[in-house]
Amino acid sequence: MKHVGTKTIETKRLTLRRLRLTDAEMMFRNWTSDDKVTNFLRWDAHKIIDDTKSMIQQWVNNYQYDSTYYWGIYLKEGKMIGSIGITITSDYDFKGALGYKIGSRFWNQGYSSEAARAVIDYMFNNTDIERIDAFSSVENPASKKVMEKVGMHYEGLLRHYYKTRDGFHDCTLYGIIREEWEQT
Ligand SMILES: CC(C)(COP(=O)(O)OP(=O)(O)OC[C@H]1O[C@@H](n2cnc3c(N)ncnc32)[C@H](O)[C@@H]1OP(=O)(O)O)[C@@H](O)C(=O)NCCC(=O)NCCS
Repeated sequence: MKHVGTKTIETKRLTLRRLRLTDAEMMFRNWTSDDKVTNFLRWDAHKIIDDTKSMIQQWVNNYQYDSTYYWGIYLKEGKMIGSIGITITSDYDFKGALGYKIGSRFWNQGYSSEAARAVIDYMFNNTDIERIDAFSSVENPASKKVMEKVGMHYEGLLRHYYKTRDGFHDCTLYGIIREEWEQT
């Protein structure tokens, strides 16, 4: 698969760019310390800023690989509100999985959908990815709504597909393939 790495993307209200160590303070304040954000994730909300610094450092290290697609989400004024990424799940099959998180103070303003649309366009425009999928717990309707709003299609229910600190979650799977994206 052809890779181009994480390059800056501009949308109407947002800038999506690589994480920097200097983001640590606003990242910690605005979303990594937010318990509501990590509710459906596998990691606990950060208690100290050093946890956020370590997370950033891991991504900074990963940026040396062109197959890394992970952006911080920033309002145009510079405030960081979340992150979004595509994990390449199979290079052989040209496919990846979309994931996103936004601080709860910024929910329901269309930011995740705006970022997700831009990232899907970036991947189909700049790489030869064939399929992007995403899944979310059946108990997380906001995430399901984002997948629908960005043109992904329902593909099925995955029983006990994902384990969080609360146990196993049934998840809905959504996907978009290149042909569908080209028609939008
Ligand atoms: C899922 C998440 C990223 C959505 O971010 P967001 O910026 O609020 O998303 P958007 O504003 O683009 O869209 C959310 C949609 O869900 C809808 N929604 C929110 N809560 C809802 C609920 N309980 N039931 C039904 N719809 C709901 C909103 O009304 C909105 O739809 P609309 O634009 O048609 O009104 C955010 O809630 C989040 O970060 N959650 C924690 C992390 C997470 O679960 N990530 C997904 C798994 S990787």
